[in-house]
Amino acid sequence: MYLKKLKIGNVELRNNILLAPMAGITDLPFRLICEKYGAGLTCTEMVSSKGIYYNDAKTKLLLRVEGEKRPVAAQIFGSDVDAMKYAAENVSDLVDIIDINMGCPAPKIVKNGDGSKLLLNLELAQKIAEEVVKVSKVPVTAKIRKGWDSETIVAVETAQMLEHSGVSAITIHGRTRAEYYSRKSRLGDY
Ligand SMILES: Cc1cc2nc3c(=O)[nH]c(=O)nc-3n(C[C@H](O)[C@H](O)[C@H](O)COP(=O)(O)O)c2cc1C
Repeated sequence: MYLKKLKIGNVELRNNILLAPMAGITDLPFRLICEKYGAGLTCTEMVSSKGIYYNDAKTKLLLRVEGEKRPVAAQIFGSDVDAMKYAAENVSDLVDIIDINMGCPAPKIVKNGDGSKLLLNLELAQKIAEEVVKVSKVPVTAKIRKGWDSETIVAVETAQMLEHSGVSAITIHGRTRAEYYSRKSRLGDY
């Protein structure tokens, strides 16, 4: 691993060490520590676009970035185009990068069509990416998984679709949704 500067859209990062978004972990104090020890980019945990849309107080707390060394990204999730647009437009006033979650495997998330479930509906995923890019005032990135399961490996077509939609960078978690967090993360042959 070697350090180099990185640019995402028009946002310049000090280096290529990026903090992965983690629910319940990458809160404000955790991000401040990572920034202190040199992270080039930090990210909030996944934040519900519906929570933002309905002005939920607890959701808003997840988006506090006071005192942080910039740049900082916020990750939003959801499959309702209007809620995602609203969230992107408003959250892009607070942070330097908006990341779209297309990888969360949790049952309570996928049952609503959110997170990794979008990998089974690339038409909707494309609509979300395009609309979020259109309204966001900052570069938009996306985090996907390699696919839904071993029969549905869609990382390459999803990445191409996201690139065409104007997304500035893509993170790929090298597991399928079916693998959850088990086995070794890998991108090569299945
Ligand atoms: C506790 C926990 C919470 C996570 N929350 C999120 C999240 O909010 N958004 C997201 O995109 N990924 C989330 N992830 C996935 C990580 O960002 C990362 O992609 C994944 O752990 C793969 O990296 P690893 O192989 O080093 O574990 C989470 C992972 C863990 C372990």
